[in-house]
Amino acid sequence: MLPPRFRTDDEGTFGSYTAQKRWPIIIQNSIDDFLGELGFDQKAHEEHEIILEKLKKLKSDVINNEDLPQFSDDEILCASVPRSFNEYLEKYPQKWLCGDWLFCEIYLYRRINVIFKQSKYWLDFDIFNSIKQSTFKSSLHGVVELALRYHNLKDNLNDIIKDKEMLSILFKEFIEISLWGNATDLSLLTNATLDDIRSIQGAEARKKSESKILINDTNAVWDSLSRFHNRIDFVLDNSGFELYTDLVLSLFLLDTDIASSCIFHAKDIPYMVSDVVINDVKNLLKDLKCRKFFPLNDFKDSQRCNQALNLVASTIESYIDQGKLVFRENSFWTCNLDYWNLTYNNPKGYGTELYKDLLKSDLVIFKGDLNYRKLTGDRKWAHTTDWKTAIGPLGTNGIKSLSLRTCKADVIVGLPEGLNEDLSKYWESQGEIGSWWCSSGKWAVVCYSNGG
Ligand code: F6P
Ligand code: MG
Repeated sequence: MLPPRFRTDDEGTFGSYTAQKRWPIIIQNSIDDFLGELGFDQKAHEEHEIILEKLKKLKSDVINNEDLPQFSDDEILCASVPRSFNEYLEKYPQKWLCGDWLFCEIYLYRRINVIFKQSKYWLDFDIFNSIKQSTFKSSLHGVVELALRYHNLKDNLNDIIKDKEMLSILFKEFIEISLWGNATDLSLLTNATLDDIRSIQGAEARKKSESKILINDTNAVWDSLSRFHNRIDFVLDNSGFELYTDLVLSLFLLDTDIASSCIFHAKDIPYMVSDVVINDVKNLLKDLKCRKFFPLNDFKDSQRCNQALNLVASTIESYIDQGKLVFRENSFWTCNLDYWNLTYNNPKGYGTELYKDLLKSDLVIFKGDLNYRKLTGDRKWAHTTDWKTAIGPLGTNGIKSLSLRTCKADVIVGLPEGLNEDLSKYWESQGEIGSWWCSSGKWAVVCYSNGG
């Protein structure tokens, strides 16, 4: 029998804290941001008021532990809500503060989306856009540092391509950059200062964090890839700095011909505050080229920095034009189902089409914490459970997968005996709740499965 899923009423867990404390704040922040948006005419203004009221009601429903209502036919129609939500609620009715953590959290973002989709003037409005943009802006130093790193790589590309050992070292470096890019998650950084953000980005911070990678299967991934022409998929997580690191990783793979194509899977609705929707990619390219957005006056060699930022942007654009860098969205990524549904024989067919497509990939990289939770079903596995067991069908159904996760939730598997206990003790000695080491975003895991 499978272990149960984490719940929002599991006492002392980060999940229960998230539901009680963090969700109301996240909704309130959205309300505050939306307050600043002006309706451009009377009708839009009226709808603005209605949306605000609905967001406030949602917040009070969460706080008051109301039932999660099924989506009405109207809501399903106007917001293309996947049927899987109601199917789940029919079987397992939920309340906000005593429900399945994963389901309730995903449902929350779907509810917010429905509120906007029910309007006429705001239906494509991204309530999280302004926070996504402002946090990316504060990533200036990390962004420039990585652009310079890429510029340097590009200058030496001819030599690098011939040197298999060098390629393997760089592969590990860019994987690590993309891994720690996940530490910048807006839903956790609700009060982050510029210095906080700076301290988790950049080479120095990464060096310090090397020992914080508790499981590191990067060598196995490298060995599994052919030298040339792999198709590599990224199931994206956050926009801004993390997306930027994912893109730089993909540039390295394409420039060196390790990959012939990189397929990026984005979300189809604004999601989990910071997750990538396709519009964020367009914004990122614009931002990289805009010196008002990323001013370089304070940098030592501002001309080189300028060149480097433009080089990253133009290389991305050129690969998009060549069809080597592809962006897709699919409602499966924002529906309530976990990745145990990525199989050929899902009874309702959810995930099957994607599964067949991902089978053609040489590596599917799942970025971030939420993807990790969906890979493992967000279940209360023993911490020493083997990765292949915890990811179910994906461990054996042919998909080569890699999870790059900084740990921001309660679930964790694949640890050696005793490590969870040691880390809990250490974290407690720092004045924190011991078991929350795993939700702090300070540790990370790199878990690979060859799918066989
Ligand atoms: O509650 C922790 C959380 O906010 C979850 O919602 C989610 O699992 C995660 O953090 C988001 O992190 P990431 O962006 O890495 O998926
Ligand atoms: Mg995210």
